[in-house]
Amino acid sequence: MVLVSGSGTNLQALLDAATPSFGAVIVAVGADRDGIEGLARAERAGVPTFVERVADHAGRDEWDEALAGKIAAYKPDLVVSAGFMKILGRRVLDSFPVVNTHPALLPSFPGAHAVRDALAYGVRVTGCTVHLVDTGVDTGPVIAQEAVPVREGDDEETLHERIKTVERRLLVEVVGRMAREGWTVSGRRVRLGRA
Ligand code: GRF
Repeated sequence: MVLVSGSGTNLQALLDAATPSFGAVIVAVGADRDGIEGLARAERAGVPTFVERVADHAGRDEWDEALAGKIAAYKPDLVVSAGFMKILGRRVLDSFPVVNTHPALLPSFPGAHAVRDALAYGVRVTGCTVHLVDTGVDTGPVIAQEAVPVREGDDEETLHERIKTVERRLLVEVVGRMAREGWTVSGRRVRLGRA
């Protein structure tokens, strides 16, 4: 199951990868808003979709509860947050393992403006992180990271595109391995493969 909020190119990479040998199928795609390309990608691929908007609930807890219910209906083994721009609550996180992809080398530049923040800081190398989600903002245990250079003349868009090219490949690789080999967590260490 994949959660999206925007263009869904990471979702597309997973949809394209999910052949029988991949070890996982995408059972559904959920979003926190309507009318996004991510949902259209799922529909074109024949994958069921749902939308759960925060604004339709009395508060974040009620939204979290409703989202957990929607996700549970598809009985996913893993939830992938791929450009999902909302902080997940306890009900979701206590019910399913959740993986997120982030466009920076955590713990540097957490939050919604990671690429802009890395550029503003002037780093020469940034990258992407695939990590397990906990209740913090991009604080969960790291599964995989890859570095991406910042080039002279980069703006937020050119740098983000360079990162996303790597991010899509890394996400597909990690999700596939998690599905095929399983994973164990010990403290902040995540090990892919059988225990
Ligand atoms: C990715 O860089 C993701 O890490 C970030 O937003 C971007 C989503 O891109 N949080 P897309 O919707 O998968 O194209």
